[in-house]
Amino acid sequence: MAQLWGGRFTKETDQLVYNFNASISFDQKFYRQDIRGSIAHVTMLAASGILTEDEKEQIIDGLNGILNDVETGKLEITDKYEDIHSFVEANLIDRIGDVGKKLHTGRSRNDQVALDMKLYTRDELIEVKKLIITLIKELHKLMKENIDTYMPGFTHLQKAQPVTFAHHIGAYMEMFKRDLSRINDIYERMNYCPLGAGALAGTTYPLDRELTASLLDFKGPTLNSMDSVSDRDYVIEMLSAFATIMMHLSRFSEEIIIWNSNEYQFVELDDAYSTGSSIMPQKKNPDIAELVRGKTGRVYGALTSILTTMKGIPLAYNKDMQEDKELTFDAIDTVKGCLALFTGMISTMKLNKVNMEKSAMNGFTNATDAADYLVNHGVPFRDAHGIVGQLVLYCIDKNISLLDMSIDEYKSISPVFEDDIYDAISLKTCVEKRNTIGAPGYEAINKVIAINEEFIKSLE
Ligand code: ARG
Repeated sequence: MAQLWGGRFTKETDQLVYNFNASISFDQKFYRQDIRGSIAHVTMLAASGILTEDEKEQIIDGLNGILNDVETGKLEITDKYEDIHSFVEANLIDRIGDVGKKLHTGRSRNDQVALDMKLYTRDELIEVKKLIITLIKELHKLMKENIDTYMPGFTHLQKAQPVTFAHHIGAYMEMFKRDLSRINDIYERMNYCPLGAGALAGTTYPLDRELTASLLDFKGPTLNSMDSVSDRDYVIEMLSAFATIMMHLSRFSEEIIIWNSNEYQFVELDDAYSTGSSIMPQKKNPDIAELVRGKTGRVYGALTSILTTMKGIPLAYNKDMQEDKELTFDAIDTVKGCLALFTGMISTMKLNKVNMEKSAMNGFTNATDAADYLVNHGVPFRDAHGIVGQLVLYCIDKNISLLDMSIDEYKSISPVFEDDIYDAISLKTCVEKRNTIGAPGYEAINKVIAINEEFIKSLE
């Protein structure tokens, strides 16, 4: 047991208590951030005249040595230490002797862990951002390639009106654009440095918190030392944004599972992204999409957990907050994995355009347009709705589509119909006439694609 605080204790910690309390098994994940924070801290201590230049050099050399040895596997992080902070400090003292004991001057593990968690979260937000951008680029490509790939649009999972695959994908494009903007917002809001807050009430040393903040690429120092050590809002915001990303990926996965089903056959997942059955030789299952959908629960769980942990904590630091880590780390890994795999899955899946179009042709997806035709010929909409209802009933009875009816059959239900009805309710017309911005028509979708093109360029 290597602890930083034995002085006021007369007994050894019980082993079970030690194990229960220790966080090294998971906070070792941010050894890089811990060392980076310590280097910034001693740089500031020397600049503020609290350490000499020589002491600073020795400490930084020692810290870099530890970093290097951990990275190369020469130094192992073991559970002999209570947490990553103890590990780094103990190893520093082993390496450079007494001067290492000056590292923790004007610092508490409370502001140290607040910093480490923030640095880790900030780094990971950038990684997630990159993955969302890759996905957005893939969606953009799919949109550009499928402006005239017709498919049915659904409400209540019932065929409603025809759309295009570009338009359907465009819906997810908007969701992931919002996800990206949420990540950017969170980054801006969290980007203030808690180091220098001490245990809760600042320190009596003349710390230059502005300098520490700028050394660590923060916009500035946090403004209240009690809030600095007990704020985990940024973890909650990040997990909330991640939960939303997972919700989007999960809905999208659900659609892909449906599209890939034997009944629909709109898409075919690549063999590399499908799995077989141990008993049924014919099976090719969409396991990746199902796993993405399933893993959404873990990320929601992480969000619920941290919200619940934080709700009853009086100011300032309490050990409950150590619970901010494990599920957050798991959620980060989950979101990153799901984004990467999902992007791979949709970039390799094949579209069955013939089936999509065939499906859009039946199921009366052009019924609204038939009603609009009547309205354009002076029939009040409510009456038009009723007339087209009769047409649909007639077709269902004869097992034909609206386009299969003869003009005489049309006229027997309403004399308003003329030969141009066929053109008015063709699949192409139904889609192409919808050209208000945001609609699936060629002109409208091209405008959106151009906007997205500019947006993607602005990300470079
Ligand atoms: N392992 C602790 C955590 O993750 C570090 C902070 C410990 N501070 C303390 N006062 N015990 O929160």
